[in-house]
Amino acid sequence: MYQTILTQVEQHICTITINRPDKMNALNKDVITELGAALDEVYQNADIKAAIITGAGAKAFVAGADISEFTDLDGNGGSALAKRGAELVFNKIENSPKPIIAAVNGFALGGGCELAMSCHFRTASESARFGQPEVNLGLIPGYGGTQRLVQLIGKGKAMELLMTADMIKADEAKALGLVNHVFTAEELLAKTTEIAQKILTKAPVAISKIISLVNEAATVSPTGLDNEIRMFGECFDTEDKKEGAAAFLEKRPAVFQGK
Ligand code: COA
Repeated sequence: MYQTILTQVEQHICTITINRPDKMNALNKDVITELGAALDEVYQNADIKAAIITGAGAKAFVAGADISEFTDLDGNGGSALAKRGAELVFNKIENSPKPIIAAVNGFALGGGCELAMSCHFRTASESARFGQPEVNLGLIPGYGGTQRLVQLIGKGKAMELLMTADMIKADEAKALGLVNHVFTAEELLAKTTEIAQKILTKAPVAISKIISLVNEAATVSPTGLDNEIRMFGECFDTEDKKEGAAAFLEKRPAVFQGK
């Protein structure tokens, strides 16, 4: 039914696998559309009581938004891309009344790290790597990264990761509170499913209220997500964004001018 994702429902748990392994499962327009539809199914189908999001292949969870779609976008297009993702996917995951867990099986970079952070919590394989490398492209995160990373790991470390674009390994992500558990690659899905199954033995109404209240407690700024979308768009009107996207696609380092 889907072209860019796979879904499987077993014992009331829907596993959603982003399936573009040749492009490191990068989030293009189609992935966002199909993830949005799969999440609607999670919300509406009474047989589905929880979801797990993971990536296809051994290398990547999701290596970010699809940079090849950035080249022709101006400021309005950049903001529209971020807003569409928030509405169809990221905010829908965060606010889902049913638990949604990210099982991070490899690179979770940019929009991939943001996708994992929008989930209610995260598990990771030993090979998982996390980072927000948007500054390498002359950009900032647009899918909630500046807000949710601060919620999860605190201001100082979030500032450093966002400004350096450094990648961190699974064990450091666990030490920082970004992931709850690190499993071997072979065990990742089974162990994550076990956690979901445990949650499904509890009262669903209570679980949905916990999700809502913990989200409320963790919200740093009520306007932060909207401001991020606006400023993400502003970055698209810079020369540095053109240079950053071109440099990635030409497989060379970017040279930024500050304009
Ligand atoms: N958007 C579009 N294409 C992407 C992508 C992205 N975010 N991430 C990876 N790809 C593509 C590569 O262009 C490459 O395509 P090609 O085979 O047609 O040349 C393919 O996926 C494999 O990636 P490659 O870079 O060759 O693999 P690698 O093992 O050398 O490096 C990464 C893996 C994840 C470190 C590297 O791909 C990367 O840095 N990706 C971008 C991360 C990023 O900046 N994300 C934030 C986006 S806002």
